[in-house]
Amino acid sequence: MIEGLDGAGTTTQAKRVVEHLTSKGVKAHATREPSDGPVGRLIREMLTGHHAIEGEKLSQGTFGLLFAADRMDHLQREVEPQIAAGAIVISDRWYHSSLAYQGTGADRDWIAMLNARARRPELTIFLKVRPEVAAKRRAAARRKEELFEDLRMQQEVDAGYQATIAELQAAGERIETIDGEQSEDQVFAAIMQLIG
Ligand SMILES: Nc1ncnc2c1ncn2[C@@H]1O[C@H](COP(=O)(O)OP(=O)(O)OP(=O)(O)O)[C@@H](O)[C@H]1O
Ligand SMILES: [Mg+2]
Repeated sequence: MIEGLDGAGTTTQAKRVVEHLTSKGVKAHATREPSDGPVGRLIREMLTGHHAIEGEKLSQGTFGLLFAADRMDHLQREVEPQIAAGAIVISDRWYHSSLAYQGTGADRDWIAMLNARARRPELTIFLKVRPEVAAKRRAAARRKEELFEDLRMQQEVDAGYQATIAELQAAGERIETIDGEQSEDQVFAAIMQLIG
């Protein structure tokens, strides 16, 4: 699984890793969250400002529930069948994102409980990029800002990731942090060193 702030390069690297493995004859499957399933599509709509409630922010609790539901659906519909067919599955975001993002506005223990039945990854790579650098990249890519992407929120999410990573590592998960401010090629090389 590849994790990081918005603009950290998770999509870029997930795509590169899967292309590289495939070219080596290794069966690999790229996927992402929100997923391409029905719940994931609804979340994408909500993140891009659809279904807004005038004068109010949509609650992180609602997103926590939706992301947890999407994850179970994503597992059943896509991830588990791919693993059963022998593929290495690389997901652009997993429950670490829920803990880091929704943990800013909802109780992280509750988010963890909602995700207790989600498959634990063998390896998670966190691309560490300062919130300001991630914001510059998003601006350079002229990506329309989604919910949760303002700088202050991204700083909170960054702190959420640090807490989440420490908690999950203490629970025995393998999570490796890579300096995501290096060039794309350097980040890719660092990832390949970990994957082997
Ligand atoms: N190592 C890098 N150095 C400089 N620019 C990069 C690097 N990696 C990615 N970028 C650029 O930064 C932008 C964001 O990258 P990308 O879409 O992979 O981020 P992301 O983490 O998937 O963001 P989001 O979570 O918003 O989808 C893109 O324009 C990409 O080309
Ligand atoms: Mg992306």
